[in-house]
Amino acid sequence: MLNHKIFEIVSQTAEELNLRAFVIGGYVRDLYLGRPSKDIDIVVEGKGIELALATAKKIGNPKVSIFKSFGTAAFNYKGLDVEFVGARKESYNRNSRKPIVENGSLKDDQDRRDFTINALALSLQKDSYGELIDPFDGLKDLKEKRIITPLNPDVTYSDDPLRMMRAIRFSAQLNFKIENESFESIKRNAERLKIVSVERTMVEFNKIMMCPLPSEGIKLLLEAKLLEQFFPEMVKLKGIKEKNGQKHKDNFYHTLQVVDNICNNTNNLWLRWAALLHDIAKPATQRFDKKSGWTFHGHEALGAKWVPKIFKRLKLPLDSKMKYVQKLVNLHLRPIVLSQEIVTDSAVRRLLFDAGEDIDDLMTLCEADITSKNKQKVNKYLNNFKTVREKLKDVEERDNLRNFQPPVDGKEIIEAFDLEPSPLIGNIKEAIKEAILEGDIPNERKAAIKFMEKKGQEFGLTLVKKIN
Ligand code: CTP
Repeated sequence: MLNHKIFEIVSQTAEELNLRAFVIGGYVRDLYLGRPSKDIDIVVEGKGIELALATAKKIGNPKVSIFKSFGTAAFNYKGLDVEFVGARKESYNRNSRKPIVENGSLKDDQDRRDFTINALALSLQKDSYGELIDPFDGLKDLKEKRIITPLNPDVTYSDDPLRMMRAIRFSAQLNFKIENESFESIKRNAERLKIVSVERTMVEFNKIMMCPLPSEGIKLLLEAKLLEQFFPEMVKLKGIKEKNGQKHKDNFYHTLQVVDNICNNTNNLWLRWAALLHDIAKPATQRFDKKSGWTFHGHEALGAKWVPKIFKRLKLPLDSKMKYVQKLVNLHLRPIVLSQEIVTDSAVRRLLFDAGEDIDDLMTLCEADITSKNKQKVNKYLNNFKTVREKLKDVEERDNLRNFQPPVDGKEIIEAFDLEPSPLIGNIKEAIKEAILEGDIPNERKAAIKFMEKKGQEFGLTLVKKIN
């Protein structure tokens, strides 16, 4: 199994240094699962750093990154990330504040890993090269698709509460079942997730979001009471209210369906996030009146307003990715309006202008938002959106609005009317944009200049210079 050259070199070096070394963890698990992996973890009975340095010498001295306080050393070799660590008696947790106790045996180290499937080790000793060392029957769990901890789950999870998230992530990613006692332990210990940094929690959550069916992981997070620890807004989506015999749909399960739907059409994590957050403010805007029944007026605008604060709290990027999610949440109802039969070009132009280059992603979100169980209805809505896409294409071909740039800029307006900087300039610019969106003038420079001259005169300005 270990036919990559690096393993032979490590094996040879370990023998020379009289150290026992093993490949362990995710790489071995993935090897048995037939999933290619580029991260190799090597555990050493003794000093991992020493073996890393000696191995590096033999393969042309790649740069070795040493993390002394973690007792680890790593280098890159032909596209593989190879990390060495001394076998530990304490939990295998990079981010723990607990002291790292090295000089454990392989078995001590395996005891302290998260799951039996992640504790599989392959020997790099000369006399037992490639042999599997599997004290907890992890291979059986791998075959039977089971997530189970090597020790009592209360111990394993309290060593590093992030493992509760990892259990659910692996379950969603590999389609494995978390063994009952383990799941009960997660429920009991869920609150301890609060001591884990939100960054680490979100690494796991985003891995769940990148699964083919994130709903499976998110439902488990809810059931295990983990979701409420870091994402209470999501939990609030859950539930159905009834008044005067009228019910609305459960927004939690609707959202999960939208996320699963969109995963069929995109691997863009942030578009998946837009799906996750599109209805996030529904509970806060929910009203009932006798005439219209349940309404959620303004949930898209309020949801968009919440996006920055949710991203900030969850330590997600606050750059263009957040803005993108915010924009999509804000606009997610707009294409529905356009699917009505009579729709003006100007409404189409406005959507193109507001969505800009994200228009296709917005349409993908809207299509995913159709979750009716009635096949006929789904087809009808999908057809409507097809028409919207056609209208968008048609208007775009004519007006080229996707990346709208004002055809006349502020400097030119100043020159034309010899103006001091004043709000008037903004007003004229805005009027030009409005005229284009309304279809009063085409999105072209010549027409825009003519319109500017007219508008300036309406504002009582004198044209002093002709702009070309
Ligand atoms: N590990 C652990 N507890 C943690 C994190 C990691 O016991 N909280 C151990 C597991 O043995 C795991 C190994 O460290 O297999 C490497 O961890 P990591 O690289 O985070 O994950 P992988 O298991 O390799 O999985 P993936 O590559 O899918 O993240």
